[in-house]
Amino acid sequence: MSNPAIAVEDLHKTYGSGSRAVVALEAVNLAVAAGEIYGLLGCNGAGKTTLVKILLDIVRPTRGRTTVLGVSTRSAAARRPVGYLPEDHRFPDYRSGAGLLDYYAALSGVNAQTRRKRIPELLKLTGLADAAQRKVRTYSKGMKQRLGVAQALVHEPRVLFLDEPTDGVDPVGRAHIRDILRQLKGQGMTIFLNSHLLSEVERLCDRVGILEKGKLVREGTLEALTRGAILFALTTVPPLDEALRQALLEIAVSARQVAGGCEVELRSDADLDRVIDLLRARGVSIRSVASKRLSLEDVFLQAVDKGAGGPAVHHEAHEDHEKGTTPPSPSSSS
Ligand SMILES: Nc1ncnc2c1ncn2[C@@H]1O[C@H](COP(=O)(O)OP(=O)(O)O)[C@@H](O)[C@H]1O
Ligand SMILES: [Mg+2]
Repeated sequence: MSNPAIAVEDLHKTYGSGSRAVVALEAVNLAVAAGEIYGLLGCNGAGKTTLVKILLDIVRPTRGRTTVLGVSTRSAAARRPVGYLPEDHRFPDYRSGAGLLDYYAALSGVNAQTRRKRIPELLKLTGLADAAQRKVRTYSKGMKQRLGVAQALVHEPRVLFLDEPTDGVDPVGRAHIRDILRQLKGQGMTIFLNSHLLSEVERLCDRVGILEKGKLVREGTLEALTRGAILFALTTVPPLDEALRQALLEIAVSARQVAGGCEVELRSDADLDRVIDLLRARGVSIRSVASKRLSLEDVFLQAVDKGAGGPAVHHEAHEDHEKGTTPPSPSSSS
């Protein structure tokens, strides 16, 4: 990628030392193009917040190089075009929403005349115009998060870092925040979003990185990440046993037992005939075949599984809503 808005090269971070050492990031490389929404996905403790804090020079890396808009993040100049919504932030809640934004804008060096114009615009963008004069303490969690987004925008940044912006927000509030971020993207903003919420990232991001125990285990556009394989769900009688599963692995990239049958990941559609032939040859009766596209959840669970080197991941979480024959679109939005 030429001239990325955000670049991370060979980034390592170990907290503490000796027996107390915690490796938070290991050899992470990534780049975010200008105008892109990049989603960094990972479980709690994966290292997402550490990465963002390094990009803001709040935490110093053990090794590696990071730039924002071509400027090393070790330089204060790299912070000027950057807005930040920290995870679990706390605002002085005795101020009104408008008062708080005015305060933060003043801290960011925005002059009074510009503040008078910009703050009502930000309150409007974030749907807080009606609550502008109310004390922040009376705001809902969703409103506080929206105020947090507005706060990150007071100095008209070009790059926005949002750490779990919708954590603890109800579904309607989440949709509202997604709308705001889409509007910002429409204005050319580069957005780096940390989230442990798959659906959030799936609905919003152009590109996704999956962080697992400090390592970036997958990265790509949603299209590329979910295109990878062809997945079929088969209902069989009897259900798949371990011997059959092993036999299927001669043909399939992966095969797993699910309720009433199996799910196979194939290299090509043509391999489905081979799977069916094999099952029939072993006296297994096939009651239904449904194609399904990999969801981001499938990709995530596979990636996390590989990263952990642990046992096969079970996919109970999505069995109930992917029984149909129509492959769900990974980018469908609400
Ligand atoms: N200040 C710190 N001191 C020691 N360990 C830390 C510190 N901050 C984070 N960690 C550890 O680093 C790892 C990554 O944490 P974090 O970046 O907060 O992950 P995430 O944001 O993905 O939940 C975790 O194991 C966490 O306990
Ligand atoms: Mg975090």
